[in-house]
Amino acid sequence: NMTEEEMANMDNGHASHTNPLPLNNSTGENELALPPLLEPKDGIVDIIAQQGSTEIFKGIQTKTYGYNGSFLGPVIKITEGEKVTFRTKNDLSEPTTFHWHGVEIPGEGDGGPHQILKPGESEDVKFTVSQGASTLWFHPHPVGATAEQVYKGLAGFIYVEDENSKKLGLPSQYGENDFPIVFQDRQFTEEKQFDYQAALNEDGTIGDTLLVNGTLNPKLTVGKEKVRLRLLNGANARNYTFKLNKGDTFQQIATDGGFLNKPTTLREITLTPGERAEIIVDFSKFDSKSNIALVNEVDTILLPFEIDEQKANSTKISKSLNDFAVTDEERNLPVTKKLELFGMGKIVTINGKQFDMNRIDFTQKQGETEIWEIYNKPDMMGGMTHPFHIHGTQFKVVSIDGEEPPASLQGWKDTVSIEPDQTVKLAVKFPNKGIYMFHCHILEHEENGMMGQVEAI
Ligand code: C2O
Ligand code: CU
Ligand code: CU
Repeated sequence: NMTEEEMANMDNGHASHTNPLPLNNSTGENELALPPLLEPKDGIVDIIAQQGSTEIFKGIQTKTYGYNGSFLGPVIKITEGEKVTFRTKNDLSEPTTFHWHGVEIPGEGDGGPHQILKPGESEDVKFTVSQGASTLWFHPHPVGATAEQVYKGLAGFIYVEDENSKKLGLPSQYGENDFPIVFQDRQFTEEKQFDYQAALNEDGTIGDTLLVNGTLNPKLTVGKEKVRLRLLNGANARNYTFKLNKGDTFQQIATDGGFLNKPTTLREITLTPGERAEIIVDFSKFDSKSNIALVNEVDTILLPFEIDEQKANSTKISKSLNDFAVTDEERNLPVTKKLELFGMGKIVTINGKQFDMNRIDFTQKQGETEIWEIYNKPDMMGGMTHPFHIHGTQFKVVSIDGEEPPASLQGWKDTVSIEPDQTVKLAVKFPNKGIYMFHCHILEHEENGMMGQVEAI
């Protein structure tokens, strides 16, 4: 017979994702932190992984990791067509890598597990920005320490801008009506420190405390105008559903890797770890007494808004944002790569295998589109949703269980949520050569081996 403690541990394990640890409501007492914008100088962007401490709780220093600062990172802003050098440096006292999630970058610069920087080492990553406007991100990827390093604060945004994006009438004043917003839940010790090993859950580490851009109990002050929120689920494992607390609609304008063809009206959107979405909330219909907030599926307050009525702008957003399409040709391509996601906890596999640094699982010709079919095989307990991510590419979701994907997924993606027993078909093309990871973006699943390697040749 199981002891109560063992039963509680079980609840805390596999079942925790269908019924996760509740999150605390944001009380809204702190203004949301805005990461600094970092643009190339003479083509160079300096990015340093470092350790430090941060006052997350009033009067208490929490030991944290960050890029170019003690916690989280800047927003790196680059432009399509630009030649850039990311000058990376590891000032941590442990090995790390710099992975550019969603960036179409040659394999040797991708920052996967092979590109380890030891403490004190530097590396110049040079590439030409080949993709269009999008909200991407970066984080570490060393085998065995990815989940913990992200948990301690290593994550930043990358904005790609292009010519098209300037003509669309989108809110684009950084920190005024255009905000990067990363959601991460954490478990703090009594001393208000991160203790990753204590919080660790092999099926995905979650916490009861939400940090938004690293801010505890955040609120965001906005004008009486249309505001663009670039949402990133930067959590290790928790899924976030975003709604407005009074049921109002908002518009989604972008997926992971670019704009939707047109703004899509939604009442809620769910992002699994690694996914992004850009949404527009029209605050012109609210006033300072409206008490509007972003909440999750059980109405936990994630981010309350304060409306500054002095600030009012009217913007008209273009009805046509992009020309994304899954072509007939792509639809008719045969499946040439089949992947089966399976397992739980420490035994999570892709096609029955766990990650091996020395094994290339697939090859694919650079520049050629192939159809990847990914099946999430349920287990006796039902299974889990896995956010499936591929490095070095933006792909198209061709179908989910044979059906056309919802409007929300009809855009460039690099991470797609796959529910138990679902089969998802992707049209995947690698614009560059090199070795790329594909994996579940629940970081503990990635660590436990739900990851493989494809070499674009
Ligand atoms: Cu967000 Cu392997 O990456
Ligand atoms: Cu990635
Ligand atoms: Cu997973």
